[in-house]
Amino acid sequence: MNIIDKNYFVKINQQTFIDYGQILSKVNIVNFYNSLNHLSSEETKKHSDEFKTPPVYSTVITGTGSAVPEHILTNEDLEKILDTSDQWITERTGMKERRIAKPEEAASDFAFCAAQNALADANVKPEEIDLIIVATVTGDMPFPSTACILQHRLGATKAAAMDLSAGCSGFIYALVTAHQFISTGTYKTILVVGVEVLSKITDWTDRSTAVLLADGAGAAVLRATPDPDRGIIATYLAADGSHGKDLYMPAGGSAIPASIESVQKRLHYLKMNGSAIFKVAVRSMSDVVKRLMERARIATEDIALIIPHQANLRIIEAMAKMLNFPMSRIFVNIQKYANTSSASTIIALDEARRSGRIRVNDLVIMVAFGAGLTWGGVLLRF
Ligand code: UT7
Repeated sequence: MNIIDKNYFVKINQQTFIDYGQILSKVNIVNFYNSLNHLSSEETKKHSDEFKTPPVYSTVITGTGSAVPEHILTNEDLEKILDTSDQWITERTGMKERRIAKPEEAASDFAFCAAQNALADANVKPEEIDLIIVATVTGDMPFPSTACILQHRLGATKAAAMDLSAGCSGFIYALVTAHQFISTGTYKTILVVGVEVLSKITDWTDRSTAVLLADGAGAAVLRATPDPDRGIIATYLAADGSHGKDLYMPAGGSAIPASIESVQKRLHYLKMNGSAIFKVAVRSMSDVVKRLMERARIATEDIALIIPHQANLRIIEAMAKMLNFPMSRIFVNIQKYANTSSASTIIALDEARRSGRIRVNDLVIMVAFGAGLTWGGVLLRF
């Protein structure tokens, strides 16, 4: 592809900037802007009207951290309260144990610990943070946002703060959102957190969901760097709202506010059509990985590690089979933490980094799917 070709320039000029940014590598983006010197003044003017802020910064993860509740709930513990078995849970999901919060613990408690760990890892002070994004569907309360609660607890006095809801894809959506602010030069330092306390919206009489869900938090410090060869290389996000009721919590919002009736009908608990979600999950996660590879023009051999959402080991194995990708290069910790939704991929990334599974220069894909339905992924070079 000749980036300086004027005909090509006119063609891509009709596309959105995001599309363009996803198609080409950062090196090419810089070359692309440099190539404007070769254009006539009229073409340059047209271009500069449309693209006022060239994305010259890469987004690198300089620190990660995680925090999970102390209490471990095993499959054997679940056998005592539900009509289930360790054998069924292990064979159908790969889960062995999960962490469950105490009644008095809320999302911001785990978000705070994970954020502190990530900031220490990145050697960044809270006052240096420009923006905090917290991905969650189980924040402390509907408002204020858990991000604002976290901003106050951290003393991140200069940071803007917001929550983001995209189900189990939440951390990926938040990462991609943060990347937009950094690549355009708006912010230099962003704290992205994925946190859930799913045990508080779990129907502990429903064996089809209760064995799957768990609590925990992970955090990443993102910083701007002018080095085009590091950090986020390609991103992809998608959604299909037509499947919304395959995974949802019916009450507690403006559609069905809390009432005696909503509580009696158990509408404040998560409901899931597991088998419908299973199929979409395998298809969508495989599709995300393929798209990221296409956008970055890399092959499966180039990927050092895939970090998928930890919803079910069989989903991860089916994705690996569809991609013809070895399980040895897919990170799995579902046996310890079960499904922590927004927190799952960042807890896994933190564990992968700290256990030496990721080395400098490694290409890593993070991929997730979840309520919405939503799905997406990020390709990074560490
Ligand atoms: O994070 C994103 C959202 N969540 C997911 O991605 C989850 C996606 N779905 C799944 O992981 C799987 O569909 C489940 C793990 C939820 C269920 O596995 P499955 O192989 O699809 O089982 P199933 O729903 O088809 O149920 C098979 C049988 C049923 O019994 P019958 O009707 O065959 O007699 C269920 O009642 O397994 C039964 N069953 C259980 N048995 C023991 C369902 N849950 C349990 C349980 N213990 N906990």
